[in-house]
Amino acid sequence: MTNWTPNRKLAVVTGASSGIGRCLCKRLVQSQCQVIAVARRRDRLEQLSQEIRESVDGDSANLIPLVGDITDPETQQQIVDRVEALGRPLDLLINNAGIGGIGAFEDAQLSRLRRIMEVNFIAPAELTRRLLPALRSSPDAVICNIGSVLGHRAVPDKSEYCASKFAMHGWSDSLRSELAGTNVSVTLVSPSTTRSEFFDVLVESDSDTQSKSIGSWPADRVAAATLSAIRRHRAEVILSVGGKLLVYADRICPPLMNWLLRKRS
Ligand SMILES: NC(=O)c1ccc[n+]([C@@H]2O[C@H](COP(=O)([O-])OP(=O)(O)OC[C@H]3O[C@@H](n4cnc5c(N)ncnc54)[C@H](OP(=O)(O)O)[C@@H]3O)[C@@H](O)[C@H]2O)c1
Repeated sequence: MTNWTPNRKLAVVTGASSGIGRCLCKRLVQSQCQVIAVARRRDRLEQLSQEIRESVDGDSANLIPLVGDITDPETQQQIVDRVEALGRPLDLLINNAGIGGIGAFEDAQLSRLRRIMEVNFIAPAELTRRLLPALRSSPDAVICNIGSVLGHRAVPDKSEYCASKFAMHGWSDSLRSELAGTNVSVTLVSPSTTRSEFFDVLVESDSDTQSKSIGSWPADRVAAATLSAIRRHRAEVILSVGGKLLVYADRICPPLMNWLLRKRS
């Protein structure tokens, strides 16, 4: 299979107002890709448009902001309608929007579990189902799901988040097999800790709770690695040395990882 290229293609990117999604949009537009950029914060999407307009290598007409909550079926339909209105196939869907929560499962409410599963798993899965007809009409389409290393190895105090990313991982594997032999491929990208606004907007979590992690990548580095995986039609990529260590050590010796990650009170 030849490499996927962004030039003159059409993409949908969710979670475009900050972090990884924002960097993905900038890079795609710089490569002459038309991008429907989805997020709830209108001002942030306008700011992104403005930044692209002022840059030398991006055409702001190629950024189409779409304000809405991806868990809202109306927003999902608006995305489908926007693609249809452009009258061209959809070549790339990046399911990037995501949220987290930190704290013991026992102390949390059902609402935290529901919200994290809705945003991180149910909404991207349903949006994908709705966009599949448009993706199938492209000669070479990619669905890229932004998972997490925590969708390969779970850790304490992030149970809802881990569950949502395990769900995305499993669903990506199934979908990839279902679509094998078609023009649509599925790439799962699993970053580890990334510098973004992610930890500022945790759902129902103590504001002083810290995430324990070793090292972190800037969001733009994750975006660059994601686009490289898409270009090469990679089925799965795990980013960062720390992320690889966590995932592969768990595959080789799960009891050791269970012991290392035991929550000590
Ligand atoms: N940061 C990390 O350490 C890390 C590590 C591994 C994986 N990831 C994954 O990477 C992805 C991007 O995270 P990030 O680090 O770039 O975080 P971020 O800076 O907080 O960006 C999250 C994006 O998702 C959007 N979003 C959240 N809820 C939404 C909703 N209901 N509807 C529409 N958009 C929504 C936010 O925009 P609005 O608020 O404007 O809607 C924002 O644009 C997530 O899937 C996350 O799980 C992050």
